[in-house]
Amino acid sequence: MQASEIIMKKRDGGRLSRDEIGFIIRGCTGRTIPDYQISAWLMAVFLRGMDDGETACLTDAMLHSGTVMDLSGIPGISADKHSTGGVGDKISIPLAPIVAACGVPVPMMSGRALGHTGGTLDKLDSISGYRTSLSETEFKSILRSCGYAMTGQTETVAPADRILYALRDVTGTVESIPLITASILSKKAAEGTDALVFDVKCGRGAFMKTQADAERLAGMLVKTGKALGKKCAALITRMENPLGTMTGNFLEIEESVDILEGKGPADTTELTLALAAKMCMLAGKCATPEEGRQMAEQAVSGGQAMECFLRNVAAQGGNPDQLLAERGKRRSPWKAEIRADRSAYLAGIDAYAAGMAGIPLGVGRTRTDEPVFPEAGVIFRVKPGEKVQAGDILMEVYGKNQSGLDEGVLRLQQAVYYTEEKPEEPESLLLKEIDDDESK
Ligand code: URA
Repeated sequence: MQASEIIMKKRDGGRLSRDEIGFIIRGCTGRTIPDYQISAWLMAVFLRGMDDGETACLTDAMLHSGTVMDLSGIPGISADKHSTGGVGDKISIPLAPIVAACGVPVPMMSGRALGHTGGTLDKLDSISGYRTSLSETEFKSILRSCGYAMTGQTETVAPADRILYALRDVTGTVESIPLITASILSKKAAEGTDALVFDVKCGRGAFMKTQADAERLAGMLVKTGKALGKKCAALITRMENPLGTMTGNFLEIEESVDILEGKGPADTTELTLALAAKMCMLAGKCATPEEGRQMAEQAVSGGQAMECFLRNVAAQGGNPDQLLAERGKRRSPWKAEIRADRSAYLAGIDAYAAGMAGIPLGVGRTRTDEPVFPEAGVIFRVKPGEKVQAGDILMEVYGKNQSGLDEGVLRLQQAVYYTEEKPEEPESLLLKEIDDDESK
């Protein structure tokens, strides 16, 4: 086989076979096909697209370019969630123990913050002593003993994706539904879960700006996941304003604990319970989303979800008592307040701008090797839809140093929108559900 022939076939709108796709991916991982040919192939795929079968073959080839966890020894149907990335999206942290407390094993492999979106691993790393780089043996042992385990993607997970993503980033080929699908699923399926729920975000703080694009991506993720033998479903959810009332690393751990105690903000609680219900359904624990939600609510109100979380914190090296004692106290000394400059209703806080403010503050990063600061972040004192008087505190802001704080504050001030009219009741974050059978 010749790479040039495969590139030309796709350039001319042809359909690639499993062997041809496998040849490209092996050549990419083994470095036997040069980057310029891989880049040309990526552009051909970007312009011509891939059908469902080709996307499934690409995902499978990328998945098997690295190690895949074998969870066959874990009893029950395991389930996990993947979010396409948001601002203030700490949902995985309370979700995993809630679902585990409902009897569903949750093997969770997560990523780090990049650009305007936060990363679950950075939030977990802010718990003193908590280890997010587990060996496969440790991961399985904690999954067995706690019902869930959280780890990071190692170098051996889908290495083809790392090479392809770096090339996509510099060749204008990121925004392709088949390439995004294969990239997400090849990494997520490597954790060996039986079921996957996708939280596909849409809006100004999301990768997908329109609901139509989010639905196309969700449909493709569900279909391709099914082709890999996974039970799948997706929720399309709004990402216009930051989720919840806190962004940051330790701050988002605090809000996660609030959710586990049943005292979380309405939006994050709603989304956590909706995702938990879907995961329980896919794992065969309930027949309807209403039943799943009830199970999840009971796991919170009965304290089992919180217990499960604290057990996991201890198993992964953290100190549960210390974590609880640090709530409300672990704050950077570089602090500022942002106040309302008029009396009006808060119309919104641009999630993208708020996410970008996190970079100078030290919550996020622009390169994967940059450090983040556990004590940096924002507490939103007012949520969109609420009335404010001039001078009211809108946000408490914590930065990694004075200059980072100053820049973050400037960006956050520009993220605030007001309206004179009383806004309608806040809309539900849930826009649409896509189930296994709808993606046929
Ligand atoms: N997230 C990924 O992991 N891959 C993409 O291609 C886009 C978002």
